[in-house]
Amino acid sequence: MFEDLDFPVIAAPMAGGPTTPALVAAVTRAGGFGFLAGGYLTPQALAERIDETAALTTGTFGVNLFVPGPRAAVDVSAHRERMLAEARRYGVEPGEPLWDDDAYLGKFEVVAERRIPVVSFTFGMPGAADIARLRENGSKVLVTVTSPREAELAAAAGADALVVQGFEAGGHRGLFADDPASPTGGETYGLLSLLRLVAARVDLPLVATGGLVHGADVAAVLAAGADAAQLGTAFLRADEAGTSAPYRAALAERARATAVTRAFSGRPARGLVNRVLTELSAQAPAAYPQLHHISRPVRAAAAKAGDPEALSLWAGQTYPLAAEGPAESIVERLRTEARAAADRLSRLRN
Ligand SMILES: Cc1cc2nc3c(=O)[nH]c(=O)nc-3n(C[C@H](O)[C@H](O)[C@H](O)COP(=O)(O)O)c2cc1C
Repeated sequence: MFEDLDFPVIAAPMAGGPTTPALVAAVTRAGGFGFLAGGYLTPQALAERIDETAALTTGTFGVNLFVPGPRAAVDVSAHRERMLAEARRYGVEPGEPLWDDDAYLGKFEVVAERRIPVVSFTFGMPGAADIARLRENGSKVLVTVTSPREAELAAAAGADALVVQGFEAGGHRGLFADDPASPTGGETYGLLSLLRLVAARVDLPLVATGGLVHGADVAAVLAAGADAAQLGTAFLRADEAGTSAPYRAALAERARATAVTRAFSGRPARGLVNRVLTELSAQAPAAYPQLHHISRPVRAAAAKAGDPEALSLWAGQTYPLAAEGPAESIVERLRTEARAAADRLSRLRN
């Protein structure tokens, strides 16, 4: 599936702003592959982004969708109360704890009708009928997995390839189900361990993702059996990314640790440590997307105020090494570094 790529590097879908049509097109032009992020968009907005991307590149690109989960029967009022103090700092009210399916059906229609060649999913598996419809269209179906068990389930359901997400990864974990009893939502495999365990159990092309920021990392996961490497954080500071100014500044400072939290959305996600992450993580319930809707006005107001302390600053563990610049030059650098790493490995031949 990614064997035709000039260089098997994929720009991860990054919903909430960072992924733009310009970023996807630039990575594609540089010989990599880009994914548009369908999460949080209306079906119409997704359709517009697909058209915009197609106008910027003749290359192939993919689309990523969030699979809706069940509505958690959890009382989120205490969390909303704690968010109220944050909201007051910015002169806004916390949002209402709505549950929705992220307009999944409408966005699925958009990708199916447009015969998007590669469709990736996170937060679970699409239904059997949806997988069948995409495959009848000639589309490839990728499912994000975070454990060997999820990999087996996705393989049994008919996925064409798996996005194997290590615990290092920035943004939301792709967990099929968020275990409320675990602060991380489930098992926490590092990428290389997970790749090895998944490759031992399923016979599918694998896309490795989580903490990859250097061409040597790309070479390492290819050597470990992956067919492609998917990088998110490495593109967050790209000129074409839609990353907000305070978010870019916090990344550039390189001063913060990363941690996994449910505080912003109700699902475990890795981001830079800030005030909201520090103060609201411990008691944040597993209630997605209710917590996403509660924090939304606060995040918007903080972004407007240029304050990173109440923003969801999603980033992977290696974020201090993510560089700024045009996406094409980031891909070029990764390619040069990967070749140097492959040369270093040549001594194993003797
Ligand atoms: C800002 C941000 C937003 C993300 N949004 C999505 C998304 O919409 N869909 C998805 O499947 N993964 C999303 N991810 C996770 C990536 O697909 C990928 O697993 C992660 O970026 C890999 O780790 P890295 O950031 O260290 O490269 C996001 C990651 C980040 C950093």
